Amino acid sequence: GKGGYPFYMEKEIHEQPDAIKDTVSPHIVNGKTSFAEEGIPDSLFRENQNIVVIACGTAMHAGLIGQQLFHTLANIHTDVAIASEFTYTNPVIKPGTLVIAVSQSGETIDTLEAIKFAKKKGAKVLSIVNVKGSTIADNSDYCIYTHAGPEIAVASTKAFTSQASVFYLLAIHAARLNGLLSTEEVAHYLDELNRIPEIITQILDKKSFIQKMTNKFLSHDQAFMIGRGLDYSLLLEGSLKLKEISYIHSEAYASGELKHGTIALITNGIPVVALVTQSALASKEYSNIREVQSRGASVLLITRQSLYKDMNIPEEDTFILPEMDDLFMTFPAAVVMQLIAYYTSSAKGYDVDKPRNLAKVVTVE
Ligand code: M6R
Repeated sequence: GKGGYPFYMEKEIHEQPDAIKDTVSPHIVNGKTSFAEEGIPDSLFRENQNIVVIACGTAMHAGLIGQQLFHTLANIHTDVAIASEFTYTNPVIKPGTLVIAVSQSGETIDTLEAIKFAKKKGAKVLSIVNVKGSTIADNSDYCIYTHAGPEIAVASTKAFTSQASVFYLLAIHAARLNGLLSTEEVAHYLDELNRIPEIITQILDKKSFIQKMTNKFLSHDQAFMIGRGLDYSLLLEGSLKLKEISYIHSEAYASGELKHGTIALITNGIPVVALVTQSALASKEYSNIREVQSRGASVLLITRQSLYKDMNIPEEDTFILPEMDDLFMTFPAAVVMQLIAYYTSSAKGYDVDKPRNLAKVVTVE
């Protein structure tokens, strides 16, 4: 059942603290990352200094988070490919390339075809999958399971944050194996991972505030979302969520790209979600917010206290996230984005769990 919630999506959003705990904890052994249970040899992250993530939709967005983690922590070059494009664009797979496939269902045909293609080219495939014994798990050399439990709502939520948590573990693991992190740094990152369930609970406690914030979208048929770095990846996911279940056309834009075209679409009253969680990028991001404000955009600001800047945005349009290490702001931000989409869809009276034209598992190319 729906556990007392009107929709599975809301139930699944609330299951994230447990989903992440259950996914992460088996891989922290004696204060160190471990994938011994999966039979993943240390050499996999020593010998492969190129990673290609292949996935679709939300799983692909988890891959974008993974890309930044592998870059930042492990100094491993990482590309993210849309599975359906990968197979048909003659990708170059040289020795030393590890393919990481990500899939909640483990049955997505585009991802499966991409795996088969990569294996033919000689790559080793590690998959991150939620459904035990699924076809993608069976077709991979190694498989790490997320323990999100069954995800019923078409819009993926707990699978996304669980997949992301595996990327944190893997990037810390790879960095550690390549001698890039001190014992203290490993301990710090693992502490942050362990804090995620509690941090998500803090967001869930403020969900009625997010519900009020979303009123902003109700009278519009389009929205923009702007951010930089990790925030941009999260907005791609938040934007997909909003499109998928509320049928509002939403475009996530890397803030620095705005002036290269999209800002032409910003006119009076257009809702713009601005996500500011990365310290090093905050001042640039605030200039971009000013740019859209001066074109009349109505801005919803999601930031953290340490980066908050008074931008003349009404209090009811500002959400302050709890503080974590910059790299880990993914989790509180993701949950806010999920709730924005959820409340918009339910306020419009849609069947949140079963959006039109979509299936939970895509088995046709
Ligand atoms: O089962 P998979 O993770 O392979 O599915 C991939 C996408 O079809 C899926 O994430 C889709 O984008 C969701 N509906 C997004 O909410």
